[in-house]
Amino acid sequence: MSLSDSKFSAGMKAVVFLLFHLVLLSLTEAQSPGFLSIDCGGTEQYVDDIGLEWTPDNRFVFGKTAQISVPNEDRKQYSTVRYFPVDNQKYCYTLNVTTRTRYLLRATFLYGYFDNGTVFPKFDISLGPTPWSTIIISDANTIESEELVLLAASPTISLCLSNATTGQPFISTLELRQFNGSLYSTVYESQFFLSLSARINFGAVSNDSVRYPDDPFDRIWESDSVRRANYLVDVASGTENISTSLPVDVSIKEMPPQKVMQTAVVGQNGSLTYRLNLEGFPGNGWAVSYFAEIEDLNPNETRKFKLFIPGLPALSKATVNVQENALGSYRLYEPGYPNISLPFVFSFEFKKTNDSSKGPILNALEIYKYVEINYGSPDASVLASFVSRYPLADWAQEGGDPCLPASWSWVECSLDSNPKISLINLSGKNLTGNIPLELTKLTSLVDLRLDGNSLTGPIPDFSGCLNLEHIHLENNQLTGALPSYLADLPNLKELYLQDNMLSGSIPAGLLNKNIIFNYSGNVNLHKESSDKSHLIIIIICSVVGVLLLIAVFFACRFCAVRKKRKDFHKDNRTNARPTQKLRSFFSEIATESAYRFQLSEIDEATGKFKQKIGSGGFGIVYYGKLKDGKEIAVKVLTNESFQGYREFNNEVSLLSRIHHRNLVTFLGYSQEDGRNILVYEFMRNGTLKDHLHGSASLRRSLNWIKRLEIAEDAAKGIEYLHTGCSPTIIHRDLKSSNILLDEHMRAKVSDFGLSKPASDGSHVSSIVRGTVGYLDPEYYISQQFTEKSDIYSFGVILLELISGQEPISNENFGANCRNIVQWAKLHIDSGDIKGIIDPSLGDDYNEQSVWKIAEKAIMCVKPQGTQRPPMSEVLKDIQEAIAIEQGSEQCGELPIDIYSKHSIGSSVNVEPMDLVLPERNNSSPEMFMQPGLR
Ligand SMILES: *[C@@H]1O[C@H](CO)[C@@H](O)[C@H](O)[C@H]1NC(C)=O
Ligand SMILES: *[C@@H]1O[C@H](CO)[C@@H](O)[C@H](O)[C@H]1NC(C)=O
Ligand SMILES: *[C@@H]1O[C@H](CO)[C@@H](O)[C@H](O)[C@H]1NC(C)=O
Ligand SMILES: *[C@@H]1O[C@H](CO)[C@@H](O)[C@H](O)[C@H]1NC(C)=O
Ligand SMILES: *[C@@H]1O[C@H](CO)[C@@H](O)[C@H](O)[C@H]1NC(C)=O
Ligand SMILES: *[C@@H]1O[C@H](CO)[C@@H](O)[C@H](O)[C@H]1NC(C)=O
Repeated sequence: MSLSDSKFSAGMKAVVFLLFHLVLLSLTEAQSPGFLSIDCGGTEQYVDDIGLEWTPDNRFVFGKTAQISVPNEDRKQYSTVRYFPVDNQKYCYTLNVTTRTRYLLRATFLYGYFDNGTVFPKFDISLGPTPWSTIIISDANTIESEELVLLAASPTISLCLSNATTGQPFISTLELRQFNGSLYSTVYESQFFLSLSARINFGAVSNDSVRYPDDPFDRIWESDSVRRANYLVDVASGTENISTSLPVDVSIKEMPPQKVMQTAVVGQNGSLTYRLNLEGFPGNGWAVSYFAEIEDLNPNETRKFKLFIPGLPALSKATVNVQENALGSYRLYEPGYPNISLPFVFSFEFKKTNDSSKGPILNALEIYKYVEINYGSPDASVLASFVSRYPLADWAQEGGDPCLPASWSWVECSLDSNPKISLINLSGKNLTGNIPLELTKLTSLVDLRLDGNSLTGPIPDFSGCLNLEHIHLENNQLTGALPSYLADLPNLKELYLQDNMLSGSIPAGLLNKNIIFNYSGNVNLHKESSDKSHLIIIIICSVVGVLLLIAVFFACRFCAVRKKRKDFHKDNRTNARPTQKLRSFFSEIATESAYRFQLSEIDEATGKFKQKIGSGGFGIVYYGKLKDGKEIAVKVLTNESFQGYREFNNEVSLLSRIHHRNLVTFLGYSQEDGRNILVYEFMRNGTLKDHLHGSASLRRSLNWIKRLEIAEDAAKGIEYLHTGCSPTIIHRDLKSSNILLDEHMRAKVSDFGLSKPASDGSHVSSIVRGTVGYLDPEYYISQQFTEKSDIYSFGVILLELISGQEPISNENFGANCRNIVQWAKLHIDSGDIKGIIDPSLGDDYNEQSVWKIAEKAIMCVKPQGTQRPPMSEVLKDIQEAIAIEQGSEQCGELPIDIYSKHSIGSSVNVEPMDLVLPERNNSSPEMFMQPGLR
């Protein structure tokens, strides 16, 4: 349907006052659960080429529709628009949603000269009261698109158009896509929406963007080959597209579509650079990069690189090693920055590290801007309850907030940032029933117009609305007496009550007041007469008055006693309340990026916490087995471990961001009944400590090459904590009982992350974390943990691996020495390496490789942190030692057994009961340092 210009402008005035009616569109009508696609201006339901079902908005009586036609655009949803008058109102589409669920909301605008206009439209869109974006049309044939990720806080959301500054506001499509589980959860989601700035598919094979059905959530991944002004420019030379047809495992986190991950760009000359304009920025945002290794690298090849952003040197610390971080090829690795401040013109570079043989890779990128949520005007909930009484009335369906960003047609609001309702104008709206009590709660009301309806019943108590100046209740069927408070409204100027069925006498104060007062047409309403009967009435009144006073006196005493009791109870309750409130608040914002286990699930998996397998850093660890057979280690944190729910959630969100082949995988958490529980993968072969000094070592002792491999694995994990995470993570409690072994005897570091990352550089605290024997001596002086504190602890572990000795012993290190470091140093300094080598290794080792490790270990335990090498250097030496060992083995027999030929005992099976997770030495000053992640 289209209207001529003149017809429309003639109708404009009428349209402004016309009461529009919104259609709540059902989600269940859409084909894919959680999908709703509205064809604005459309007339019929249909399914498009890619399988999306479009719903027309023809039940929506707002605005007008127009046909458009633009070159190269034949999609039906882009053949129509709905457009709205230019006024100071807003026009809202209200959609039903499921609360506490995340959605993608996309609105698109294709102008196509729908109004034969000469100016391009410019107007604002908002989500409820929250300003979202300004739509600026600059090309009649280009689709403008806006996307928002939101956590639904209420059962409906409203997209509103308002504030046209040029042209007429219009809309082409409105698409709602429900997300699954924890997609796009952020810790800020109750305060901020995410507004899309860039979503790019790198190395795309065509100009077409990728969306549904390739992306089950119908995100639109733009091809990087589409050239736009100031978008994806400054591309480094040597940038090449690569692609694969092999499947890519994308089933974590944001689950980018496989088709997007199957293509990438690589920097053959060692770097990838891009510059792009970020719509909506500068500001704070959420940025994430998607990587998957889709080339088959030789074992001797590596792809390591770092991100460089001009002006943000802090971000350049983290090293990406896609294969390692993703735990394999063809798997997604998704590092990102949940809160990063970005400029409008954004340049970035991925640059290979010196020790990497391959250039960087990039599969996809997403950048969103945080949009602060406006929680709405103060009277919004009162009015929401009011309008819900009139489900069929057009005026009650305008949607969004009554005041923000523009007010409803029958409402006016004060002009401050916290607007309150000052005018209600429902004259002649066919209202029936009593005057709703909600209106009496609008305490800033100045002007109330309910005249010309069919309202019945008494005039309610507006005595709380002290600003009331104008009251129009004429032409209704109101009954009852005139309330006396009317005489006391301090600002009252006009009171229109004519033509109702009011009765009784008019309060004298009202008649004396200098106001416009019309009460004609109320046959039973009369001025107070002044005849003799008054005297009797006065006497009766006095008697009644005295009796009343006495009654009131007793009533008050009674009330006072009651109140005291009540207050007492209230006090008791308030002690419990805040925590409960906090709890539910924090459990709501709980970082859902980690999987949240139900306590019942864990109860079942652990057989009600039957099998204790260790007591680690912050609590007791139990063995468990999930329904799908996956074995887990369940750590029940001691209550003192975390100060509060926020801390716990911070830790959990941190943990869920750390992924590395050599770090024990964090599977999820549970937070119920006041218990904080962390769930990790189960490590079948227990701790390195047990294999070196414990029951496992009594049966079979690890051979030297295996010890080196364990050292290499652990070093890689620690290196990742130090250089691959931003902010850097310092383990702070490295020890042989925190190095766990899986069924293939590969080592992973555990108990990391439950500590403050080194973001602010210093950790001054009176509470010590760390274990005697492994604790950096410099820490005693500085009270500060640095990466170099971890290097010290790792040096001690290397000495343990060489010697098979525990770090502290009263007997084994001679008369004046209790400590492995002093003891080993004495021997090594005097050239006596054999004096410290674990006797159970026999002669099954190459002395050169032991020397190499011993020397490095001594470097690691230097008293001053600055003298200790970085983890990458330690790792390099361990790898060289392994090479020496393998070289010498090639002359002899290949090792088929990981255990020393000189093992003591002959037991073969490692029984599950032997599995011990990190042990806690109660006498050690090992405690939790309060996390301060904020
Ligand atoms: C939206 O939700 C409300 C409240 O549950 C319901 O009454 C209404 O029918 C729904 N609208 C549609 C179109 O499904
Ligand atoms: C635009 O112009 C065409 C042809 O003159 C006319 O058919 C159409 O109704 C006009 N549209 C509007 C919105 O005025
Ligand atoms: C309306 O738009 C103009 C120009 O874009 C802007 O300056 C103004 O602040 C907007 N008004 C509101 C209420 O958002
Ligand atoms: C969403 O989650 C459900 C249950 O976890 C799963 O069955 C469904 O396939 C998921 N949908 C998408 C699009 O991944
Ligand atoms: C890696 O090994 C292959 C043979 O497997 C060899 O051709 C290539 O040169 C080696 N690359 C590097 C960087 O050492
Ligand atoms: C007024 O409401 C009554 C029922 O409450 C309805 O029958 C009538 O059509 C309405 N009149 C107008 C003008 O809306």
